Amino acid sequence: MPDIFFPCPVLKADGFGEHPFFKCILAETPAENESKQARTIGYALYFFGYNVNHGRIMYLENLFVVAEFRGSGIGKEFMGKLAEVALQAGCTEIKFVTMEWNREAKDFYTRLGAHDTTESEQWHCMVLEADALRRLAQGRKALA
Ligand SMILES: CC(C)(COP(=O)(O)OP(=O)(O)OC[C@H]1O[C@@H](n2cnc3c(N)ncnc32)[C@H](O)[C@@H]1OP(=O)(O)O)[C@@H](O)C(=O)NCCC(=O)NCCS
Repeated sequence: MPDIFFPCPVLKADGFGEHPFFKCILAETPAENESKQARTIGYALYFFGYNVNHGRIMYLENLFVVAEFRGSGIGKEFMGKLAEVALQAGCTEIKFVTMEWNREAKDFYTRLGAHDTTESEQWHCMVLEADALRRLAQGRKALA
């Protein structure tokens, strides 16, 4: 594993520990020689999930290519590899979200054949965050 900065305190353990919660594909420059190591220039972080209508799915949590390497086909190569992995695992789709302001990412995915289900099916992204989880779990204990 390359020596990279992990912004989330549990990311290293969750991705590279004994029971990984997610998988990750890295893009690297070739190592020029023993003293000049390969440089990580992009990653695709994903995990598998399930959809009651569609069966096995892949969820793409994040795709990132270092700015100076963008526009040379690396992102597309990542998506091709992810498609291959998803199909091999029996998945019927790759799901992901993009931010409203990230027009560039949306265009990138659209060009690869993705469509926006917020527009076509009125989906809304919802989340129960830690406080709500704790309240729910405590409420259940109180009833027991
Ligand atoms: C989005 C991102 C991963 C694309 O990676 P990339 O390596 O630059 O993309 P590629 O060079 O493989 O481009 C693939 C295709 O998308 C097109 N494309 C790439 N960037 C684009 C952009 N900003 N707007 C429109 N089309 C774009 C390319 O022209 C190419 O089309 P072609 O195959 O017809 O020539 C990269 O720009 C990135 O890391 N952005 C910042 C992080 C981010 O927003 N990630 C997505 C989070 S949801």
